[in-house]
This record gives sequence, C-alpha cells and structure tokens, in this order.
Amino acid sequence: EKGGYDHFMLKEIYEQPDAIRDTYRGRLLVKEGIIRMAGIDDNIEKFINADRIIIVACGTSWHAGLVAEYIFEDIARIPVEVEYASEFRYRNPVITKKDVVIAISQSGETADTLAAIKLAKANGAFVFGVCNVVGSTIARETHAGAYTHAGPEIGVASTKAFTTQITLLTLIALKLAKVKGEISNSDYRYHLQELELIPEKVAKALKSEDHIKMIAEKYKNAKNFLYLGRGYNFPVALEGALKLKEISYIHAEGYPAAEMKHGPIALIDENMPVVVIATKKGHYEKVVSNIEEIKARQGKIIGIVTEGDENVKSLADYVIEVPESLESLSPLLTTIPLQLLSYHIAVMLNRNVDQPRNLAKSVTVE
Ligand code: M6R
Repeated sequence: EKGGYDHFMLKEIYEQPDAIRDTYRGRLLVKEGIIRMAGIDDNIEKFINADRIIIVACGTSWHAGLVAEYIFEDIARIPVEVEYASEFRYRNPVITKKDVVIAISQSGETADTLAAIKLAKANGAFVFGVCNVVGSTIARETHAGAYTHAGPEIGVASTKAFTTQITLLTLIALKLAKVKGEISNSDYRYHLQELELIPEKVAKALKSEDHIKMIAEKYKNAKNFLYLGRGYNFPVALEGALKLKEISYIHAEGYPAAEMKHGPIALIDENMPVVVIATKKGHYEKVVSNIEEIKARQGKIIGIVTEGDENVKSLADYVIEVPESLESLSPLLTTIPLQLLSYHIAVMLNRNVDQPRNLAKSVTVE
C-alpha cells in the first residue's frame, strides 16, 4: 500500500507531480486560454463584487491560505485576510454579506474550520470550500467549492495536500484576475503555460533527494532550525518549519527574512542551521544580504536557490536547487526540498514519520 516507499509521507511527496496535474486537469485549458471551474463560474458575481476575501484554515492549510493571499492581492487585486480558524471563530469578527470566505481543509473535518464556516454563514457571507476529501463535512457545509485532487493523504504531515491547495487557489486567482480585467492577456497566458509546467519541474526538484539526505545527515542533531523566506516564499518558510517540528521534534521557526533583524538574529551562532529560500525572482538581493548577515554570525546556511545560482552558492554551506518559474508559482517548487529535508532528518532520528506523537490526521476537536 506504500507503493514500495518506506513511509506514506515519502510516497505522498513523490505523488506531487501527478497530484498537481490531477488538480488542474479539466480546469486549466492552456490552448483555449480558459480556466474552467464550475464552483467559481456559478458564483462569479459573488467573487467579483466581494469587498474582500477572508481565508480560514488551520496548520498547513493556513499556510496555503497565506500563499493565496499573495497571489489574490498581486494579480486579482482583491483584498485578502488570512485567519486561523480557531482565532477567527472566537473573536467576534466583522463579517458582512459582501465578504467571501474561503475555507481550506484537506480532511474537511477540522472542528475549528467548520465552526468558522458556520459563523461566517450565520453572518451572511458566501462560503467557498477547498477540500481534498470528497463528501467531507466542510465540503457539505459550504455554499460551493472545489476539490483538490490530491488523492488520499495518509501521512499526518501534510505534503501533497499543500501543493494541490496552492495549485487550486492559483487557478481561482488567475480566473478572477482575468474576469476582473486586472491581468493582461499575455501575462495571463504566460501564467497558464507556466502552471502547466509545474508538475515536471516538481519531478525535477525531487531529483535532489540524495543531496538533501546528505544535508540532513549534517544537521540532524541540531536543536533548533530557523527558516527564512520573503514574499510568496515567506509562508513556505513557515511550512518548512512546521514540517520539521511535527515529524522530527526539532524546534524550528519560520520567519519573514527581513524580520530577522528584529529579534531572531540574536539566536544565530555556529550551531544554528538557517534554511533560506533565496530563489532568483522576488527580493533576491535583499535575501542575499540577509544571508551575509547570517554568515557574519557563523550561522550555517542551507540555501534553496534557482538552478544555476552561483551567488548564494558562494556564501551558503549548502544549496539545493529548484527549477526556475514565476515568483507566484515558486512555492510549489521551493516546498519540495523542505519536505524532503524534514522527512530525512526524522527518519535518521528514528521518529514515527507517518504518525508523529501527540498528533492526529484530522483534528475534529477544538
Ligand atoms: O485537514 P485540514 O487541512 O483542515 O488540517 C489542518 C491541520 O490540522 C493540518 O494541516 C496539520 O497542521 C498537519 N499535520 C500539518 O502537516
């Protein structure tokens, strides 16, 4: 059932090219220049007239929501707020009929997300679900929705659910950008073409596994890790840290790279591995100067870089390359090495990778 892999998590990491393809299949029509999604088409007025989109989710799904915030605001010019469902539900939030709420949940059973949906509905908002499990409670409780087609995710650590959520939310953002006239035809077409290429680029990123294993061996005994990223890759830093924490039990923090100087820089010494997402597009020079600051304090640098990068390579202790893509699509690629890094560290530490202590696959209690 693990298809020859040692763990479900590894199998699911390797399923990502297919899972992403399955998620855009029938929706992304590159030749025709069309994104077809019934749940959006049928409710297009609600999305276009929305004052804002509020995204509610927990854990990794919340991180996918943060990535979506960047793309919705960047290309569709719709204001977005991303909320932890557990905070939103108890905050007496301001919700109106002109809000569209997007609830993201792999399992479709997360108690806090479900409660946030009920609250939003009671206040007249239109609620759209992004779920993986067909027929799940959240899929049924929302007004409309779209499924990610990741297939069953068994490992407690979410991997393919995350990348398929981002894929789906990217399709929605592109579609809304087009309908609203916020994106030029050529830019739109370019995005569609690049999105279609993502599965093969993910497959290429997976080829770094042996190199990543070697890096895992070097740092598996570290007590703390810091993950830094900027822009679209800030949520990827959060996700990389969560992945390491939950399966290896090593303390890790994700931070926006530029916030480092406001506190976390004090932690950096020769025992601190810092994983820095430093792909070519998006604040590259600024991230490089953050890397210089880490180096000056003897921190150990693992750079996630664009193929062929020489600059970060000359500064970092190790680099892991990912193929080039649009900045907005880069989280789908930069996430891959972070999944593999945490997986291999956890395996080396003899952790129960698929069923980490104290965790359940779906959190049906608050
Ligand atoms: O099923 P959901 O997407 O609603 O689950 C949300 C979180 O419980 C989940 O993402 C959790 O954080 C994962 N274990 C992360 O790998």
